[in-house]
Amino acid sequence: SAPSPIADRLLAWYDRHRRDLPWRARPGETADPYRVWLSEVMLQQTTVAAVRPRFENWLARWPDFASLAVAGEADVMAAWAGLGYYARARNLVAAARVVVAEHGGAFPRTEAALRRLPGLGAYTAAAVAAIAFGERAVVVDANVERVVARLFAIRQPLPAARTAIRRAADTITPNMRAGDFAQAMMDLGSAICTSRAPKCLLCPLADDCAALAAGTPDAFPVKPAK
Ligand code: ADE
Ligand code: SF4
Repeated sequence: SAPSPIADRLLAWYDRHRRDLPWRARPGETADPYRVWLSEVMLQQTTVAAVRPRFENWLARWPDFASLAVAGEADVMAAWAGLGYYARARNLVAAARVVVAEHGGAFPRTEAALRRLPGLGAYTAAAVAAIAFGERAVVVDANVERVVARLFAIRQPLPAARTAIRRAADTITPNMRAGDFAQAMMDLGSAICTSRAPKCLLCPLADDCAALAAGTPDAFPVKPAK
């Protein structure tokens, strides 16, 4: 895709405001695919604050694919307790077994190959490909969906708007630093471009934002008609 001034502005903001989270590589470090994958799965229905201690606890017990592949079901379920959606925990073990048995213990490196592992849906495969491997994947979770719907003032209601949102997200995803870009969009959505009362005065993308220009940031994304 073409160079993206929006991505440049967002990445400059991220470089100043990035949260130091236990699964994030520090600038200049390489992300550990196992940690990225585990965090993305834990974060699917659970807040960052609730995930932090569970993530550390899990890593202390099962620090890599090899250890997780031979984990006992009861231990895994106990470690997952309280996080909900237990199928996610079962899929973590199943995927670790596939990684060990069929990929020589190394996580597949492309979005397409990641999609074939148990429990890796469109979001997780894209997030891991971008954050752990630097692939230019288009990563859209609920936070990113809201930011993009506002930046482009997408007037279609959800869920039909998702196609247009994904296409718009694609146009602003940079070729370099795709993982930082994805996490910067998530951080912007959770800290600045919040569902209610977005803090547009603090937003690094205010000059790019069609919803702000229209004076109605919180009208987007448009809710489904009832
Ligand atoms: N939510 C889901 N994935 C995340 C990440 N990598 N950083 C912050 N919030 C997230
Ligand atoms: Fe969101 Fe406001 Fe920034 Fe637009 S200007 S992206 S509505 S925080």
